[in-house]
Amino acid sequence: MTRGPPGFCLWLTGLPSAGKTTIGKILIERLAARGWYAELLDGDEIRRGLSADLGFDRASREAHAGRVAFVAKLLARNGAIPIVALISPYRSSRAKARAEIGRFVEVYVSTPLAVCEQRDVKGLYKRARAGEIKEMTGIDDPYEPPEHPEITVDAVGRSPAESADYVIGELERTGWMPTAR
Ligand SMILES: Nc1ncnc2c1ncn2[C@@H]1O[C@H](COP(=O)(O)OP(=O)(O)O)[C@@H](O)[C@H]1O
Ligand SMILES: [Mg+2]
Repeated sequence: MTRGPPGFCLWLTGLPSAGKTTIGKILIERLAARGWYAELLDGDEIRRGLSADLGFDRASREAHAGRVAFVAKLLARNGAIPIVALISPYRSSRAKARAEIGRFVEVYVSTPLAVCEQRDVKGLYKRARAGEIKEMTGIDDPYEPPEHPEITVDAVGRSPAESADYVIGELERTGWMPTAR
């Protein structure tokens, strides 16, 4: 069975509030404008459905990443571009996803903890510091930054749109996407 040309997976990893969801949504628009079928697989959203049974312990986080990787694989092999916005704190989970999906572009949204904590989009850092919640990535749960990401986005001192455009530019420069005319 032929499936047409394969797509690839853009896997955005980073601390909570780093900018994964915000950049991911803009990337979807940018790619759609170029005629690609891109789909956002957002960690928080998937936790309300497919991963609603999972917590935040290590095994649960690994299972969550594994499910997302499975869906991303199906999309990518059918010519779409899944854009994964997932903390995915463990190198091992990301390596597994890379091995399963094959065409895999790891994007490290490298916003430092201090800036993420300042943004605190969902107020979780504050609650973690107050001891109200446990297993908060960056506070009392580990985040293992990528060692060799294909793309590193420095989303500090840039707008979200500039960050997304930087990713697109890198995809063009490295041959994942044809350059826009
Ligand atoms: N360059 C940037 N890229 C992405 N987000 C940014 C940037 N600068 C500021 N922000 C802000 O940071 C926050 C990031 O939140 P979000 O995308 O939900 O993070 P995550 O999904 O990584 O937890 C948003 O409020 C966004 O407007
Ligand atoms: Mg998010």
